[in-house]
Amino acid sequence: PDDLEESWDDEFQKLLQTSPKDRSLAGLDLYFYQGFWFKSRVLKAVISFQEHLRPFDSDVIIATVPKCGTTWLKALTFSVLCRNQFASDENHPLLTFGPHQLVRFLEYDLYYNNPSPDLENDCVYRPRIFSTHVPYSFLPTSIKDSGCKIVFACRNPMDMFISLWFFQNNIIVENAVPLSLDEAFDKFCHGIYEFGPFFDQVLGYWKACQENPDKILFLQYEDLKEDINSHIRNLAVFLGVPFTEEEEEQGVVEEIAKICSFESLKEVEMNKKGMHASGIPNSVFFRKAKVGDWSNYLTPSMVERLEKLIQEKLGDSGLTL
Ligand code: A3P
Repeated sequence: PDDLEESWDDEFQKLLQTSPKDRSLAGLDLYFYQGFWFKSRVLKAVISFQEHLRPFDSDVIIATVPKCGTTWLKALTFSVLCRNQFASDENHPLLTFGPHQLVRFLEYDLYYNNPSPDLENDCVYRPRIFSTHVPYSFLPTSIKDSGCKIVFACRNPMDMFISLWFFQNNIIVENAVPLSLDEAFDKFCHGIYEFGPFFDQVLGYWKACQENPDKILFLQYEDLKEDINSHIRNLAVFLGVPFTEEEEEQGVVEEIAKICSFESLKEVEMNKKGMHASGIPNSVFFRKAKVGDWSNYLTPSMVERLEKLIQEKLGDSGLTL
């Protein structure tokens, strides 16, 4: 009903007007809502899926901090879960489609233009896999209370910041004055970027995972880089689809690692030339994929500041980044 929609629009506008406002690293307006920073359209989509999403117990949610390996985790989760739904590796959907097409974002894709999209017809493969960058506190209770599993990934914040810095510079809005690395770093340390602050987001999932390790798998980019095969096996066990002995003998794990590797994915035509629906070229999701690249950019005083912040924020949480 149009009336309802209009009154919801009014309410949303009021919400924006009363929320603290700032700018993203790419020059876009951000709003501070319930402890985190959002672009207005994205926040609207988040509120929509909080209200309307009715997950199946079999659904899988990939929840990530931006720039911490979302693209990789989408490819891996899809390849593990849907491994028997295509005839052979030559027909692997990742050779034709980008990871962001096979696993869509709740807030950037599915609910971006539509408060109640037809998820049934949108997902070709089963089980359904959705992705999101929202903090744990923003996940709808329908997800928290259902049987669906959540795979979370984060990364060392120094590498995450450098990845974000390059990404944002790639998508900078017209006429926006690019921030210097210093300015961008200061914003990052204050948590002012889309879905920031970093530590609040990471700790939200960390605590939830401690309380419910069967529901949330907590992954770190560096660990995946160090031993991808073991993590693919763990992921399969966590998702309830462990590899059979026969699959192990056939080298299915190694094959998944290869297809999802940075080197393979970045050469796929769709990832080189294609575009995400938001107008972002797929190629910007593939940069260097190195651990420790921050050391080429951050000054000693930046490193000191962030190290202090890491210590202060993680405290005795038991998490090391
Ligand atoms: P860098 O900018 O450090 O290179 P996200 O997918 O969450 O946006 O994260 C992007 C980061 O993951 C980028 O890091 C990107 O290069 C890296 N990445 C993308 N695909 C990857 C893959 N298949 N394996 C490992 N890293 C990958």
